[in-house]
Amino acid sequence: MRIDPRLVQRLRNARRVVALTGAGISAESGIPTFRDAQSGLWARFRPEELATPEAFPRLGTLVPDWLLVTQNVDGLHQRAGSRAVVELHGNIHRNKCFDEDVVVAEWRETGERPPCCPRCGGPLRPDVVWFGESLSPQTLAQAEAGARRCEVLFSIGTSAAVFPAAQLPLTALQAGAMVVEVNKDPTPLTGMATFSLLGLAGEILSHLLGETWPA
Ligand code: OAD
Repeated sequence: MRIDPRLVQRLRNARRVVALTGAGISAESGIPTFRDAQSGLWARFRPEELATPEAFPRLGTLVPDWLLVTQNVDGLHQRAGSRAVVELHGNIHRNKCFDEDVVVAEWRETGERPPCCPRCGGPLRPDVVWFGESLSPQTLAQAEAGARRCEVLFSIGTSAAVFPAAQLPLTALQAGAMVVEVNKDPTPLTGMATFSLLGLAGEILSHLLGETWPA
């Protein structure tokens, strides 16, 4: 695999870096993506009925201003060691009260489905963004601020098709940042990205990391 030396040089000098990730970054850990024609969740389920990240912790410590924004709800970035992840679409491992919209960490199991909120008795639900729901304005604002101020934005393993997340690379481009796409297939962003690296996220990111900051 050959990585353009101009990309390596610009990355080495970058101080403010944002990474936007999608289902493709979890794919090599065995979690199906959404839109893959054969194995994607949407090939098997109707969306309305559904409601290697290893390099990331290290990449995150190498630049002074690093922001990781994910569309994934699987919590794998945190399990891989990343801290302060901006989760645009929530986290499936967290629950909240339907009625009060507050996170609920513990409740009493009574056998009722869904379980009840210990405060108000309302039904509990996963803390993820479902179809027809809006993203948390604070979370989105944090991601947008990152996209506006960064020098480099990575768009990794995302179809770049779901808004408002797909707007973040465009915002970064408009603000003059370099946008680097890492994806196994071309996406609507590919033609606009400053660099497009076609291949598996796990392989490309490990390689890029080694080239830019040799251990
Ligand atoms: P998609 O399933 O739409 O896209 C996954 C992307 O990852 C595709 O472009 C694949 O080509 C690419 N890909 C798959 N495996 C890869 C690998 N090993 N390395 C690199 N690229 C790979 O998933 P998202 O773009 O994340 O929303 O979907 C965005 C949102 O759509 C999700 O967050 C979800 C869904 O509606 C909610 O849950 C609210």
